[in-house]
Amino acid sequence: MNIQVFASGDQLDEACADLIGGMIRIKPRAVLGLATGGTPLGVYRRLIDDYRNGLVSFRHATTFNLDEYVGLPEDHPESYHAYMRKNLFDHIDLPLSRAHLPNGNAADLEAECRRYDALIEEAGGIDLQLLGIGHNGHIGFNEPDRELATGTHVVELAEKTRQANARFFNSIDEVPRLAITMGVGTILKARTIVLMAKGEDKADIVRRALEGPITTDCPASLLQAHPQLIVLLDQGAASKL
Ligand code: GLP
Repeated sequence: MNIQVFASGDQLDEACADLIGGMIRIKPRAVLGLATGGTPLGVYRRLIDDYRNGLVSFRHATTFNLDEYVGLPEDHPESYHAYMRKNLFDHIDLPLSRAHLPNGNAADLEAECRRYDALIEEAGGIDLQLLGIGHNGHIGFNEPDRELATGTHVVELAEKTRQANARFFNSIDEVPRLAITMGVGTILKARTIVLMAKGEDKADIVRRALEGPITTDCPASLLQAHPQLIVLLDQGAASKL
């Protein structure tokens, strides 16, 4: 595991954007796994700048997002479809036909999960997976549980996750109770994983994930077993290591 600690969030964002840009320059047809939440916003802003400055092109890339809420219309401002368009896709040259997210409004959610897994497989798997971490150790929306699913599946969101995400909605009642998420098996199959965390409020869970036992009670702890894990932290998130 390669852990890098940065003096500021900006430096962390720059390092992460450089990793992604570097991957695309080496492999223009790279398959990127993308995350949502507050943490990667600065990385996406950097990638947009790099694209505008002619430093990177996503023309041949393919992306797969980790997750999407169930039952939120795609054009709802808090859907991850809308988040990705607003914060990245609308500003770069990635063809939307290769920018994939699970469809949380599919009539048959089980079939949608299988479709998503098949698409990832067809694309040759994920070259670089970007991850944030939830306060309870979730990655994507893989919540702590006695067992974790390998492939894409429907999950019931933990109360803690709904509370954390309520800040993006008018009230907690509006936060969906279900989501579709890529499974930990798919995440762990990514050839490189970049885990990012910022802020002192993530320090405890970062320590459990990186130094605690590998357990389904903390899904991010499974990342310890990955041969190419890069962890990018600011000083707050690293303060308990
Ligand atoms: C969200 C997302 C995750 C994200 C995590 C942390 O619920 N499903 O993919 O990594 O929670 O979010 P944040 O970066 O806002 O702390």
